[in-house]
Amino acid sequence: MTDVSEAQVSEAEIASHWREEEYYSPSARFIAQANGADPAIFERFSEKNFPECFKEYAVLLSWDHYWHTTLDTSNPPFWKWFVGGRLNASYNCIDRHLAKDRNKAALIWVPEPESEVTHVITYQELYKRVNEFAALLQDLGLKQGDRITFHLPMVPALPISMLACARLGIIHSEVFGGFSGTACGDRIADSGSRILVTMDAYYRNGDLLDQKAKADEALAAAKELGAEVDRVLVWRRHPGRYSSQTPMVSGRDFFVDELLADYRGRVVEPVSMPAEAPLFLMYTSGTTARPKGCQHSTGGYLAYVTGTSRYYQDIHPEDTYWCFADIGWITGHSYIVYGPLSLGTTSVMYEGVPTYPDAGRPWRIAERLGVTIFHTAPTTIRMLRKLGPDEPKKYNYHFKHMTTVGEPIEPEVWRWYYNVVGKGEAAIVDTWWQTENGGFLGSTLPALQAMKPGSCGPGVLGIYPVIYDEEGRAVPAGSGRAGNICIRNPWPGLMQTVWRQPERFLDVYYRKYNADPDSKDWHDWPYFAGDGALQAEDGYFRILGRVDDVINVAGHRLGTKELESAALTVPEIAEAAAVPVIDDIRGRMVEMYVSLKPGIDPDGMEAKVVSAIETEIGKIARPKNVWIVPDMPKTRSGKIMRRVIASVSNFADVGDTTTLANPEVVDGIRHHVQAAKVARGETPRELTETELAEIQSFGNE
Ligand code: WTA
Repeated sequence: MTDVSEAQVSEAEIASHWREEEYYSPSARFIAQANGADPAIFERFSEKNFPECFKEYAVLLSWDHYWHTTLDTSNPPFWKWFVGGRLNASYNCIDRHLAKDRNKAALIWVPEPESEVTHVITYQELYKRVNEFAALLQDLGLKQGDRITFHLPMVPALPISMLACARLGIIHSEVFGGFSGTACGDRIADSGSRILVTMDAYYRNGDLLDQKAKADEALAAAKELGAEVDRVLVWRRHPGRYSSQTPMVSGRDFFVDELLADYRGRVVEPVSMPAEAPLFLMYTSGTTARPKGCQHSTGGYLAYVTGTSRYYQDIHPEDTYWCFADIGWITGHSYIVYGPLSLGTTSVMYEGVPTYPDAGRPWRIAERLGVTIFHTAPTTIRMLRKLGPDEPKKYNYHFKHMTTVGEPIEPEVWRWYYNVVGKGEAAIVDTWWQTENGGFLGSTLPALQAMKPGSCGPGVLGIYPVIYDEEGRAVPAGSGRAGNICIRNPWPGLMQTVWRQPERFLDVYYRKYNADPDSKDWHDWPYFAGDGALQAEDGYFRILGRVDDVINVAGHRLGTKELESAALTVPEIAEAAAVPVIDDIRGRMVEMYVSLKPGIDPDGMEAKVVSAIETEIGKIARPKNVWIVPDMPKTRSGKIMRRVIASVSNFADVGDTTTLANPEVVDGIRHHVQAAKVARGETPRELTETELAEIQSFGNE
């Protein structure tokens, strides 16, 4: 590895002054047991062995028929992997482990209330429950290729429902349980689901929250978009006892535990699916208000998450693996359910919030269950560090491996994770990737590549990233210049398309850097990730954040357009703009700027906007502040200059305002907003150069 202690800085488009961090090496003990400990693996996955290198991931699965073509590039960028192959994802995650590990724990579910007992679901038990639920779905007339929407919290019903669908080739679409009913309804309509699976209630921060209430809102929202739902299947948090205030609708709503009484012991043969059949949809935010359904395949996706779980998570069948994410996000799909279960390990699920009832909870769980691998997001790490910096010491657990995912992690937070949570024993991987990607794109291979706080590392096995400037010129490693990170090649975990919007797939991810739309050569089709990044001389990437209008709040992507359309559902609002504000725990938070229609009394408008956002999207999107302004700073063509208000919100220099049609409004907004922030105790710390660059170019035209 080259010595890069001297940062190279040049006059960049986005110059980034950034002190090089020191390397940390994994322990000899970790290396000795690691799945990926032979450096020959880099050679096997080098570009000259692409795409056949990915066979190495595919053979980790059990196939009914092998594929005849590893990668079909005949219709770029709609790549096809393992064409001709057939397999079943549910079989791979359950049935194939029964012979050897029938009564080993597949899932261990920890309810939020500490007084409730932990549930252990063995592979045999999972097999039974998945089969019974699959039989029920089959009797409802669902079949291969149909879609079904889930709006489930972190309970075993969620992976059971997913795997039951996978068994039958039904495409599942889980909407994060914390999203509002309306957000769920939009996704029901887009996917064309006729069945919604939900739950009556679940625990969060000590409260039993009503989830079923959102089902009625969801159905109403879907109906407005012309979509009818026939049935709502309701799992109960406490079987036999209904914990929601909402009445059940006769003929439409059914309790799953009651229906299942007729299915005891029913077995459903796994349907042998083409590798290219969609396994699930996962919606994500984009730059328009319409959500994007990322369509993931069966064979390519499962191979990719299994391979990366094996080498990057270092999962062995005997590990107790705990990914502290929500299955409602891609991380949970890939790295709580499909990857770990495919490898036959024990995967832990926790229902609630990290700090309930105190900041020692995660470490009590880790100690109690003997967790060996721990996986979470920077926002959780920051929160636990703030509320319980010394808690980990009090508990006798030992992690061999830890992951961080979802946002950039500050080096000092990384060091707390390493020294205090990992007790200096655990290897850390900082995994950079996206909902669209299925699995990791950038990370160190834990036994073979040293860690560097704040950098994800190089591209993972079989992924060849590049940074391009706006003109499509490659930005060299070590130049100190940032640009748009792209992946030059296709890979098996990549989404197949945007559900029912193939043009959008092409536009969002490929149009920017594809020079020849007729080319059938994958080299002409770099994948545009939408993240800013820079690459150090050692080849490690540092991810700076989104370059589009997406705000990453506590690791959750929120589109400015979605936030603004939500605010505009308030009839008194004339215009709305969403911008990020730097937050020490959540990474970024949302601030809304709104202007009112003429003659409207501003009283109570802030609360209306907040409530509209919670109704349309969910509580995670709740803005830190709503600012009512007489007029928005705009370009001459009438576009709101988000970078100007973003700078105001973050106490940054607003930069050049001479191109504005109405530069005179800026001072008034600044005085009003910043005085109010000072009064609320919200004066920010000094921003780093990269944070400044992000804010001052936010939504740039
Ligand atoms: C950001 C989550 C820095 C990035 C798996 C990306 C990261 C977006 C990292 C995707 C990381 C994810 N370091 N930034 N290790 N991982 N991101 O779709 O901006 O919820 O584009 O997928 O999160 O978020 P998504």
